[in-house]
Amino acid sequence: MSIMVVGGAGYIGAHVVRLLQQAGEDVVVVDDLSTSSAERVGESPLVVMDVAADGAVGRLEDVMREHAVDAVIHFAARKQVGESVARPLWYYRQNVGGMVNVLEAMQEAGVRKMIFSSSAAVYGMPPVEVVEEDTVKNPINPYGRTKLIGEWILEDCERAWGLNWVALRYFNVAGAGWPDLGDGAVMNLIPMVLDRLSRGEAPRVFGEDYPTPDGTCIRDYVHVKDLAEAHIAAMRALDGQLAHHVFNVGTGTGASVTEVVRAIGEVSGLDTTPVVEPRRPGDPPQLIASAARIEDELGFRSATGLGEIVASAWEAWQAGPRRIERP
Ligand code: WQD
Repeated sequence: MSIMVVGGAGYIGAHVVRLLQQAGEDVVVVDDLSTSSAERVGESPLVVMDVAADGAVGRLEDVMREHAVDAVIHFAARKQVGESVARPLWYYRQNVGGMVNVLEAMQEAGVRKMIFSSSAAVYGMPPVEVVEEDTVKNPINPYGRTKLIGEWILEDCERAWGLNWVALRYFNVAGAGWPDLGDGAVMNLIPMVLDRLSRGEAPRVFGEDYPTPDGTCIRDYVHVKDLAEAHIAAMRALDGQLAHHVFNVGTGTGASVTEVVRAIGEVSGLDTTPVVEPRRPGDPPQLIASAARIEDELGFRSATGLGEIVASAWEAWQAGPRRIERP
């Protein structure tokens, strides 16, 4: 099978590319390298381009034909919530416009399968303890809205020209499947804690007065290597009849910020006693996936625990340029 991975040099995309390479699939990567680097994609051909740019459709179509692409895995997107609030039009152009370009090229080139990176951000502030795929979707920022719009576009393309698709709603992705594929960006809790520690500063906890057992926010942390496996399961499922197209990817269990910070201390041997800062606007107290649908229908289950996730993130951090020397 020949698979185009759009955004395949990024944090999650590069994990999927490596799994596909190991499985002997033909992979062609498309990436603008704006937040990633070429060495992450290894031996696979890499086309450097911004899929949201003018002229992208024709170029993508050419690459699809040249590589006889059967399916597209679409990761490429901007993913910073705060930035999306400040620059909504750029987010719509990049995330929605980029996806429309990829789908137009697919329609022209006769490619009928897509796996799309959606997000738990589509749920916003969910009114339930554990989020099911049918839970009300009310994204509270432009980033989350671009992901929900992406799902709607896929539904419409299915109806109009027979697109076969799966959208995976990622919960809190963390860790590294290989030490050279760690999360290079400092945008989420674990990298943000490691970033503080590498500067000799105490980790920050945003709010300790939430209605949770220890007062800090609870999230569902899923190992990036498990998430990458979920894409392989979804790809297999696209060969058959799907009862549903949208799946949460999480573990079904939550960990609090305090538990994560403590786990980093245990793995690293560093003092991770945090400083408590005010709540960050827009943070739901708890976000945990129901992982039932993807297990029942795709046979996928993520069982890697927090300790292993944090250990792999630490190992990757220590293999990188900002290694922390223990005192
Ligand atoms: C987790 C918890 C913070 C840093 C975001 C996006 C979501 C998805 C993943 C994707 C929160 C707390 C963080 C720190 C802290 N985006 N925190 N100290 O907000 O759950 O999800 O990333 O592509 O759409 O919203 O993830 O890792 O930022 O935060 O206390 O230094 O850690 O307040 O409760 P979040 P996060």
